[in-house]
Amino acid sequence: MSDFVHTLCAWQQTHGRHDLPWQSKDPYKVWLSEIMLQQTQVATVIDYYQRFIERFPDIFSLAAADQSEVLSYWAGLGYYARARNLHRCAQLIVEQYQGRFPQTVEKMNTLPGIGRSTAHAILAFCFNAPTPIMDGNVKRLFTRYYGIKGPTNTSAVEKQLWTQAEATLQAALNANDKPVDMARYTQALMDFGSLVCTRSKPQCDSCPLAAACYAKAHHMQQQLPTPKTKKTTPTRQTVMLLLVHDDQVLLELRPQEGIWGGLLSLPEFTDEEALLHYLQNLGLSVAAEKDLIKIAAFEHIFSHFKLHIQAILFKLKENRSLQETHPNRKYYPLTRWQTLPLPKPVSKILETLSAIN
Ligand code: ADE
Repeated sequence: MSDFVHTLCAWQQTHGRHDLPWQSKDPYKVWLSEIMLQQTQVATVIDYYQRFIERFPDIFSLAAADQSEVLSYWAGLGYYARARNLHRCAQLIVEQYQGRFPQTVEKMNTLPGIGRSTAHAILAFCFNAPTPIMDGNVKRLFTRYYGIKGPTNTSAVEKQLWTQAEATLQAALNANDKPVDMARYTQALMDFGSLVCTRSKPQCDSCPLAAACYAKAHHMQQQLPTPKTKKTTPTRQTVMLLLVHDDQVLLELRPQEGIWGGLLSLPEFTDEEALLHYLQNLGLSVAAEKDLIKIAAFEHIFSHFKLHIQAILFKLKENRSLQETHPNRKYYPLTRWQTLPLPKPVSKILETLSAIN
């Protein structure tokens, strides 16, 4: 069994990734990259990571920042709970551990946003701890290599995968002939799943593990991992209002809980009629047909549902300043939208507005 570990390490040395900007022994950099990479591809993360690290070069600068500024550096990456947890986690590490990462899985797991696999990755990369990881890429590799069947999001299969990961690593550690470089092994697991043991068209012909792979022997590469039972994703509708006055646009700070928590967004309505009533209640004379301009309609995909967004522009007449009584709504200069913590679809709408204005 220890061959698995050493084969992967040898493969990583010649074929793996060595120049990713977060590759280091610095727990801050490793932690940040692992959180960004949880639901996002390497190619997308690199730019975000570099901009983030330039502005927040260490855990102290991150802990001291305002949440809205942290979110503005995350804007567009999605899954914003990651950024809110990251910020909170930095503050806790500064308050409770003088800014140094705790070095046990138990302590790490009490921190927001750090689950078992992320804790193991940080410990393995930075401290050479013998703690295996289990992310989506590793699940694919292990289900194929060991022939583990059943949907990987069920707790029974999860448990089986973790047991196998621990046993595989333990066998290599017990073999005693060669030590295991845990940073290399961890990077190998990540790289192998994205470069060789890929979801579709795995590179079995050049795979150094092929000789002992269950899926290869049983021609089950396409059946493993067992597909998750598909839920149909519901579609929700929303109408967003672009209330523009001179070069200002009305934005709303979203509550911490729920989608886009802590980000700025456009005021939303269930339908056009509700939007029209809102404007009329502000004392404006609005004719739906001629004053409301539909500027964009598209779908945004979340993990659990699709959101159909219709964006409607209403331009306030000159010299008419409008008191907004909603406590979380304020006007912001349109020229500044690129620096604000906006969700991707809202940036898209404001970009469209800038293009037509
Ligand atoms: N996915 C998650 N962590 C990663 C890493 N350190 N390198 C490449 N891909 C990853």
